[in-house]
Amino acid sequence: MTEKTPLHDIIAARIAQQGRITFADFMGACLYEPGLGYYTSAGRKVGAEGDFYTSITVHAAFGRVIAREIAQMWRCMDTPADFTLVECGAGNGRLACDIMDFLAEREPEMYRGLRLVLVEKEPSLEAAQRDMLAAHVGRLEWLAPEEFAAGGFTFSGCLYSNELIDALPVHRVLRTPEGLRELYVTLKEGEFVDEIGELSTPAIAEHLQRVAVELHTGQQAEVNLNGPEWLAAASHALRRGFLLTVDYGYPAEELYTPLRKTGTLLCYYRHQTEENPYIRLGLQDITAHVDFTSLIKRGEELGLQKVWFGEQYRFLMSAGIIEELEELECSSMSDEEKLRLRLTLKKLIVPQGGMGDTFRVLVQSKGVADPKLLCQRRIGF
Ligand SMILES: C[S@@+](CC[C@H](N)C(=O)[O-])C[C@H]1O[C@@H](n2cnc3c(N)ncnc32)[C@H](O)[C@@H]1O
Repeated sequence: MTEKTPLHDIIAARIAQQGRITFADFMGACLYEPGLGYYTSAGRKVGAEGDFYTSITVHAAFGRVIAREIAQMWRCMDTPADFTLVECGAGNGRLACDIMDFLAEREPEMYRGLRLVLVEKEPSLEAAQRDMLAAHVGRLEWLAPEEFAAGGFTFSGCLYSNELIDALPVHRVLRTPEGLRELYVTLKEGEFVDEIGELSTPAIAEHLQRVAVELHTGQQAEVNLNGPEWLAAASHALRRGFLLTVDYGYPAEELYTPLRKTGTLLCYYRHQTEENPYIRLGLQDITAHVDFTSLIKRGEELGLQKVWFGEQYRFLMSAGIIEELEELECSSMSDEEKLRLRLTLKKLIVPQGGMGDTFRVLVQSKGVADPKLLCQRRIGF
């Protein structure tokens, strides 16, 4: 039975009016309907009291390693006097705080000309970000996603995001013997159900062509048109510098392998996974793994060079997590605390099954000749 959350009637009314809606519209309402969506309603989402963990909640070392790489980006750009950091999908500001703390402490020259622009779909998170980043308040600015997408904002520096793209609404498709079809959402006897129809937009087939994917008959998958669209806005905003995207996902050939017959759509509710997106509307998170090939290819069309792409554990190892660990351990920690720290950081980098493997990092650049980043260092593994 579908639980009748307040969102249920709103979505049901839309379906009654239109006959059916795309899964992307359904997911968009479940996550972002003002005041009622998963991300746009009250309550902790991330961490022990929420529904899932992200790398940020594991340890500040994650943000500090990213900060090391950002400082290296600044050097690759010849240490400009002004450098802008932009975080999209900034949540409660935890990652931004870890990055800013590191830069204030270790990179005073860079920090002097630093500003941080926070872009977050849920406006009420601004208060949490203001509290979290109180030590850096003079450097903070906020920008609504709509303004970011509108094209008036430009900057030079680095735009980073953690688990943004997987939270953008996706279309669902199915390869039938007659060709590629879309899975819509409709209502049957009061329950939300799938309905197969023609593609709602030719952009879906174009997207799969761009990443050279042909689904097998019977194979179901997700297509994220919002990711490349967001990248176009990001690329437009970036005059010179870098984009750093962290998320879970795969290159297209791995994401759309025929072995993955039903796609990667997954819901999270209180640290349990759930396959049915048609329950607990607005109360459970809905995500799909990111197709990194589409971000790389779209980026190339937009004038963004791929600098580095790989697993999070490789990124963290090359960019300085061992140095972070060594520095943390130098302080007056007991042996038990040191062990606990090592076990915690292991979660971020363990290659098999941990966050280090499923999560990928993509670094793209614009207008920086032959950058030498920390993640490009050769490490013996
Ligand atoms: C999975 S959460 C990740 C939050 C945080 N980055 C972390 O790792 O803990 C995704 C966040 O992206 C925000 N978001 C979704 N679409 C966005 C957009 N177009 N621009 C900015 N933020 C967006 C959501 O409101 C949510 O806070």
